[in-house]
Amino acid sequence: MLPNTDFTTTRAFKYLADHYIDINSKSISEMFEFDAERFSKFSLKFEDILFDYSKNRIDEETVALLIQLARECSLNKAIEAMFSGEKINATEGRPVLHIALRNRSNTPIFVDGKDVMPDVNKVLDQMKAFSADIISGNWKGYTGKAITDVVNIGIGGSDLGPVMVTEALKAYKNHLQMHFVSNVDGTHIVETLKGLNPETTLFLIASKTFTTQETMGNAHSARDWFLAGGGKEADVAKHFAALSTNSEGVSKFGIDTKNMFEFWDWVGGRYSLWSAIGLSIALSIGFENFVELLSGAHAIDEHFKTAELEENIPAIMALIGIWYNNFFEAETNAILPYDQYMHRFAAYFQQGDMESNGKHVDRNGNAVDYSTGPIIWGEPGTNGQHAFYQLIHQGTKLIPCDFIAPAISHNPLGEHHNMLLSNFFAQTEALMNGKTREEVVAELKKSGKTDEEIEKLAPFKMFDGNRPTNSFLLKEITPRSLGSLIAMYEHKIFVQGIIWNIYSFDQWGVELGKQLAGKILPELKDDSEVSSHDSSTNGLINQYKAWR
Ligand code: F6P
Repeated sequence: MLPNTDFTTTRAFKYLADHYIDINSKSISEMFEFDAERFSKFSLKFEDILFDYSKNRIDEETVALLIQLARECSLNKAIEAMFSGEKINATEGRPVLHIALRNRSNTPIFVDGKDVMPDVNKVLDQMKAFSADIISGNWKGYTGKAITDVVNIGIGGSDLGPVMVTEALKAYKNHLQMHFVSNVDGTHIVETLKGLNPETTLFLIASKTFTTQETMGNAHSARDWFLAGGGKEADVAKHFAALSTNSEGVSKFGIDTKNMFEFWDWVGGRYSLWSAIGLSIALSIGFENFVELLSGAHAIDEHFKTAELEENIPAIMALIGIWYNNFFEAETNAILPYDQYMHRFAAYFQQGDMESNGKHVDRNGNAVDYSTGPIIWGEPGTNGQHAFYQLIHQGTKLIPCDFIAPAISHNPLGEHHNMLLSNFFAQTEALMNGKTREEVVAELKKSGKTDEEIEKLAPFKMFDGNRPTNSFLLKEITPRSLGSLIAMYEHKIFVQGIIWNIYSFDQWGVELGKQLAGKILPELKDDSEVSSHDSSTNGLINQYKAWR
């Protein structure tokens, strides 16, 4: 059972509310001036990842109170409950065990009295053999040619994780060309299949439930394309594999269950890249590198489970987020990777975080009267700098940001990496320090402006500063370090869900969309006028029918 505490009624919460008044009048840069040890006090290192949280609106008391809050909400008990396979996803009656998928130490983890590790290892072996066959060219298509292109068809967690990781680890990629189709918009699959050859294409149908409308629609179109291109029904087995929990659905679709890579209902869709859903990753970078990814995540799982909260990176990340979300009333959290390969990282955690903690009912079934999950967004810097950083620097909203960068680039090219990293360092410094009126005046004077011009321009050129950031400096983006980084964010989401007293592992809100679209689809089959909805929906549907 998960603990069940309204965090706003804890002693720590009340202390934090008072303490907020104090911190709100302090500036981060002043706190650096007064404390030469601030960086070492508020930074943590895990293997080759440096997590610097010193540029936040916190002091030692803040951290101590936030940790007290976590303790009063029995965070340690909750961590224990997840790792021991308790059914903490209570609204779906399931454990939450993505940690078992990467449990490289292989210690038994029990669900309903049965150790899940033998099954996990069996599927990993199957993935190992399959990926080796495909990569080496041993596996032949229906005309005897080796596979050159892999198309993963999936959506949400069955797409975003594989896309994000294969992109982030492109530097490790082999000769196979990877493609991802997610949108039910026919354009996505049509454009993806242009130029592909059915003889050398492998489709991975990635769907936990094997019922998702978008994925099933795309999977059927892929099979039609394959058959129209010369393949026969009997050849489907050589060109289609399924990654799913639903063997019945897989056989019904016509995929040989020998080509099915199984996972289990205790793997949440948005936490499934570590499971068979990661087959496209193993194909793209090789199984050994996939295992490295798992190992990096496992190392963080151990850290999360055993480190004191003061030194626990996911816990600290989560508590700082709560500090801004519930005391500063920040609404969003930007994730800004200074690494082109990481360009889908923010999109990935948009689902990871928002589908997990976008909840307004607590674990007692009551509507909450406090703010829960933030809006997650972001783009790679420096592109973001030339798009939306203006608002982060000078807008009216407080936007806590995570800056992420590797010290070593996979593509060292002249001064490029120094230029990139100079931006990474400069931005967090500028967000913290801002620019005072004196600095602006001196700058304008130097550029030859008159006193009158300076008077007019100065207000627009000033920056308040005091805008908080976390920095993650990785030695290099490797399968292991990426695995660790992803797991840090996953556990951050978990900790926040525990403190907000919500269920982070269901997604009933998304289910509604699925049901509604299913109801309207039959109404679109013919041209008869629709009148069963509100006048707006009727009007839109009827105009669609008239124009299509
Ligand atoms: O978006 C809702 C959701 O249920 C996600 O949680 C999941 O990742 C996605 O749909 C895809 O579901 P499936 O893997 O079952 O096709």
